Amino acid sequence: MRTISIVNLKGGVGKTVTAVNLAAILATEYAQRVLLIDADHQGNTSKFYRIPAEPGSLADLFEGTVMCYTDIVQPTIYRGLDVIPADMSLAALELDGQLPEDVHGGLPRDRALRALTDLRDAVIEDDAYDFIVIDCPPAFSIASISAIAASTDIVIPLMPGQFEIDGMAELIQQIDGVRRTNPAVRIAGILCTMTYRDEMVDEVIRWLRKHSPVPVFDTQIRWSKPMGRAVMAHEPVCEWSPTSGAARDYRAWVREYLGGVLDGEKA
Ligand SMILES: Nc1ncnc2c1ncn2[C@@H]1O[C@H](COP(=O)(O)OP(=O)(O)OP(=O)(O)O)[C@@H](O)[C@H]1O
Ligand SMILES: [Mg+2]
Repeated sequence: MRTISIVNLKGGVGKTVTAVNLAAILATEYAQRVLLIDADHQGNTSKFYRIPAEPGSLADLFEGTVMCYTDIVQPTIYRGLDVIPADMSLAALELDGQLPEDVHGGLPRDRALRALTDLRDAVIEDDAYDFIVIDCPPAFSIASISAIAASTDIVIPLMPGQFEIDGMAELIQQIDGVRRTNPAVRIAGILCTMTYRDEMVDEVIRWLRKHSPVPVFDTQIRWSKPMGRAVMAHEPVCEWSPTSGAARDYRAWVREYLGGVLDGEKA
């Protein structure tokens, strides 16, 4: 089973759009069983799939008020695709850093940090899903560190621009942080998002391919008008506008990313 975290410290780079569409493509086009976890207190993934944070959310798992992931999993309208939602209660937990006494004796903070690893192990034991996809917040919060610690793969969506070049050192630090947390994690690659025909964009991508210490996917996700509409309609872009540029790009990227798996390798 692969556990894929969608990570970048920068906001608004397409993490959520990548997470919700990757999860949808895996479930609807490859008949995979997918658990999509919203690890961002903004709750964009939860809102996208119209999943309320009741009766429980990721914060409950971190706080230990629910013991089993199955208590907070909710189905979507798409066969094979389930969601664990998040809301602002995750931010409250992050802000004061106060977690209730751990009745099991461990350090509460440590328990929160390993919460998603424990979840992943339980999912493997239950053989409940083929993929876990985690939408991370634009920060190294408890939730994102917990996600990285549980992951086999990290995908880094990145909007090509000058700030991204300037932020390269920060990105490398971020990647090193990932490796310290979980040495087994594979940086699957940087996914260039919201690209458009422009010399500057091409130049940034060329620069990235040359200087990035981690792989850069061949496939780019172009900026595509139907994507905004699909998000407003709460529909994966491949459902909303199957022939749009973004739908074709996300399909092509999933094919590139999971080529070995789709050719018969076990996920
Ligand atoms: N390929 C695309 N074409 C057009 N618009 C896009 C595309 N990808 C993302 N967007 C839009 O860009 C905005 C930011 O995307 P998204 O919310 O996925 O970023 P994010 O990295 O998750 O942000 P945050 O860090 O705040 O969680 C959204 O309004 C989304 O609809
Ligand atoms: Mg997001």
